[in-house]
Amino acid sequence: MTKLGLGTIGTSGITEQFIEAAQLSDMYVYQGVYSRHMDKADEFKKRYNAATAYDDFDAFLNDSTIDVVYVASPNSLHFSQAKAVIEHNKHAIVEKPMVASLEKWTELTELAKEKGVVVVEAARHIFEPNFIKITDMIKGFEGISGATLTYSKYSSRYDNVLAGEEPPIFSPKFAGGAANDLGIYTVYAALRWFGKPEAVHAFSHTISTGADGLGTAILRYENFDVTLHYGKIVTATVPSEVYSLDQTLVLDAITGLEKAELVDAKTRESQTVELDKSADNPLIWEAKAFAKVMQDPNEKENKEALNEWLRLSYNVHQVLDQIRSQA
Ligand SMILES: NC(=O)c1ccc[n+]([C@@H]2O[C@H](COP(=O)([O-])OP(=O)(O)OC[C@H]3O[C@@H](n4cnc5c(N)ncnc54)[C@H](OP(=O)(O)O)[C@@H]3O)[C@@H](O)[C@H]2O)c1
Repeated sequence: MTKLGLGTIGTSGITEQFIEAAQLSDMYVYQGVYSRHMDKADEFKKRYNAATAYDDFDAFLNDSTIDVVYVASPNSLHFSQAKAVIEHNKHAIVEKPMVASLEKWTELTELAKEKGVVVVEAARHIFEPNFIKITDMIKGFEGISGATLTYSKYSSRYDNVLAGEEPPIFSPKFAGGAANDLGIYTVYAALRWFGKPEAVHAFSHTISTGADGLGTAILRYENFDVTLHYGKIVTATVPSEVYSLDQTLVLDAITGLEKAELVDAKTRESQTVELDKSADNPLIWEAKAFAKVMQDPNEKENKEALNEWLRLSYNVHQVLDQIRSQA
């Protein structure tokens, strides 16, 4: 298969990690780096052996050697940047959350369809083999009685907020905040494992910037509830759990999941679930999955995979819209 020409937007740690994953996969060739600052673009070009460094967005978009652009800028910029990428007939891999509203989600994905290119949301955990193994296990449960999913991690950038600054990840202007940054991982997990909820009830605590620092969402299903806890101003150490009548599945994490146990509901005897050690670069799985689909988007299996990712992403954004409007 021909390797995909890769371009990147953003020069923070996550872009470094994605470039490394893309190079490790051997399915991409790094063609262009865009930064608002030429010195940063040049540094990336040298470090990762990119063909061209750009600080001019139009020139970057017009580089015909770039087939796919990885967009890892602050959340509120994803829509306009990904739209420009798609308008230039290139595929787009957009960091989570792909956009900040369901309306924009629909506009972006319809444009991609019209242009015959692929747009995907980089929800990395759903591509991790351990997450997939747990998904299969949950699908085999006799009945679900509920779940509590947690992803709360103190962000070092909250120190900046406490010092009176407004970094994008904590700024409403940039669609920052806990639900968009970490809550989305728990929403993805809940919807992958249990489907679309019948109702959503969400609560949050607002920090000085006006963004949500932490929140709770209750997803109501016909016979059970799933509670999501997420936050960027606290660190949670409790595991996540999925309940069925006869057993409880205990998970050490929602992303980068490495340890799982099945606990018998009556005897409390526990049994370790065999999982792999997380990959050194956990973005490798999504990098490979996206490249496979983008190399041949019309092939049946690839088309089905893309449709499934988009269906899930749509439902996630629908729930996120409800969380954002209530919280
Ligand atoms: N999948 C994951 O595990 C994961 C992990 C972390 C973050 N993310 C996602 O990645 C995205 C970036 O997050 P981050 O925390 O890395 O953000 P960030 O550090 O605030 O910004 C990322 C990059 O965007 C560019 N940028 C910053 N402010 C900008 C502005 N005002 N206008 C235009 N460009 C700007 C900068 O690149 P230049 O200065 O070079 O232009 C910067 O390196 C978010 O969507 C986040 O959700 C995903």
